[in-house]
Amino acid sequence: MSKITKVVSLALILCISLSAYAARAPKSAVFGSAHDFKTQLGGASYTLCNFCHIAHKFGSAPTGPGYLLWNHTLSNVSTYGVYTSDSMRSTPTELGGQLTVSNLCLSCHDGTVAINSWYEAQAGSNFQPLPQGTLFSSEAGIARDLTKQHPVNFVYPDATTAAAIGMQPAADLNSVDGNGNVPLFAGRMQCATCHDAHAGPSSGAHLFFRAFPSTPAQTLTGSSCVYCHL
Ligand code: HEC
Ligand code: HEC
Ligand code: HEC
Ligand code: HEC
Repeated sequence: MSKITKVVSLALILCISLSAYAARAPKSAVFGSAHDFKTQLGGASYTLCNFCHIAHKFGSAPTGPGYLLWNHTLSNVSTYGVYTSDSMRSTPTELGGQLTVSNLCLSCHDGTVAINSWYEAQAGSNFQPLPQGTLFSSEAGIARDLTKQHPVNFVYPDATTAAAIGMQPAADLNSVDGNGNVPLFAGRMQCATCHDAHAGPSSGAHLFFRAFPSTPAQTLTGSSCVYCHL
């Protein structure tokens, strides 16, 4: 295959994975993905999910949040900055020091915490400590400066504002589409509105993208952006 054909077919696969179906990826789809650290790091006695969640935090004084049974050590970064512009209507809130689903992503994706740094480590786990951010190559600390990333951690515009700025209005506080395929978190847009940390290759996902509901505009442009930006 020539380089150009490869690029075209990759683009096609991306279009198809972005627009052809809409269903939540099963949690098991994380297997074999960039988030499958059990396979990647060879942890015989550790379960795949425990890199991020754990059913129980034991010990006399368990540390770490109860939120989503989170087990990966959260980042200490206190200021990520927020996106601003002259036209943006919504007001993002600083994520540093918060506990939202975006902070869960940032616990790894701001590049400051080692991947195998947990609140509840598993006895007998055979991982060696990893230096901070070693698994991130050119993307090291991709999200440490959130002034330059798509805005997150803001209340999704209400129907009136959405109409005024040409956006898909949110069906309810839980999702833009009303079926949980483009989720909001307490009405807010977060990293996990566009990405699903569990959506691996077996669910047909690319870069952990959510399966957005198919619309003619998306088919036309091959881009999930126009699901929301009408
Ligand atoms: C790389 C980290 C990571 C791994 C590994 C992971 N999760 Fe998650 N999980 C997250 C994040 C981040 C969220 C919050 C964002 C969201 O709701 O999609 C979440 C949310 C959830 C939720 C609540 C929201 C929902 O979609 O139902 C459940 C349940 C869950 N995970 C189960 C699992 C199971 C089961 C596994 C193992 C098969 C697993 N997770 C592996 C990161 C991970
Ligand atoms: C436990 C650590 C951890 C958590 C939590 C985590 N990630 Fe990742 N993620 C990684 C690592 C490590 C990679 C691989 C990076 C690399 O190969 O350079 C990765 C890769 C990715 C990729 C690129 C996938 C690819 O195929 O190249 C995306 C997109 C991504 N993560 C998004 C997210 C989002 C969004 C969240 C939260 C919903 C999240 N991640 C939570 C550690 C994590
Ligand atoms: C509006 C949707 C949207 C939101 C919100 C979003 N992303 Fe992404 N993300 C994308 C798109 C589109 C790409 C791939 C193209 C690109 O790099 O711009 C991507 C790519 C990535 C990658 C892979 C970069 C690479 O080149 O390997 C990572 C990691 C990632 N996002 C993490 C995050 C994190 C962490 C957040 C929250 C702070 C987040 N994303 C919020 C749409 C989004
Ligand atoms: C899930 C819905 C959703 C998706 C998907 C999405 N966006 Fe957004 N985006 C928003 C919302 C909501 C805002 C905030 C708009 C406002 O308040 O003015 C926003 C803001 C923006 C802004 C800043 C607007 C301004 O006035 O400064 C840009 C630029 C943008 N998005 C581009 C993109 C691009 C490019 C993509 C595809 C990679 C994308 N968006 C995907 C919902 C989305």
